[in-house]
Amino acid sequence: MSLEQDVERVLVTEEEIRAICKRLGEQISKDYQGKRLLLVSVLKGAVVFMADLMRSITCECQIDFMAVSSYSGTKTTGVVKFKKDLDINPDGCDILLVEDILDSGITLEYLKNILIDRHAASIKVCALLDKPANRKADIQADYVGKVIPDEFVIGYGLDYDEKYRNLPYVGILSPKVYADQ
Ligand code: IMP
Ligand code: MG
Repeated sequence: MSLEQDVERVLVTEEEIRAICKRLGEQISKDYQGKRLLLVSVLKGAVVFMADLMRSITCECQIDFMAVSSYSGTKTTGVVKFKKDLDINPDGCDILLVEDILDSGITLEYLKNILIDRHAASIKVCALLDKPANRKADIQADYVGKVIPDEFVIGYGLDYDEKYRNLPYVGILSPKVYADQ
């Protein structure tokens, strides 16, 4: 069975994703020239975006990863579970949180608060996708790839129950996949 069968329609094509990474990479490279940029990606959804974005950044930077989870199926539980911490001490670093999608904002608000307590010099957010319709926390992304409607999306790192992360584009998951759950 192919994964494509479960995609209702493609929302962000591979070509569009390449253009987004180029645009954001150029802007970030300008803004962080001469700073101590630490890219922090939130596992696992943002790994694909992180891998592409970092290669379009031309200034010096370090990378690290954190892992949290708040989702079960297509719904956020609203409770964030902390699963993996940074390896690099963020004290004095200019942190850019790299996220696949900003939805309720609960995850990023939680992470931002943790990093503020650890004396990061600055903390900003770069999200490939922004789904503002469902926002619950008072948080915005400083860099946004694309604003999308309130649909459950998969691919390019994003999952539904750990599947579909390997699709090279972002698509809307066909509701028939989760209708009887
Ligand atoms: P938030 O805390 O509600 O902003 O959710 C952030 C996390 O939820 C993201 O990093 C994603 O992993 C996951 N998420 C939110 N919306 C979607 C979606 O449409 N598809 C897949 N994962 C999603
Ligand atoms: Mg996720």
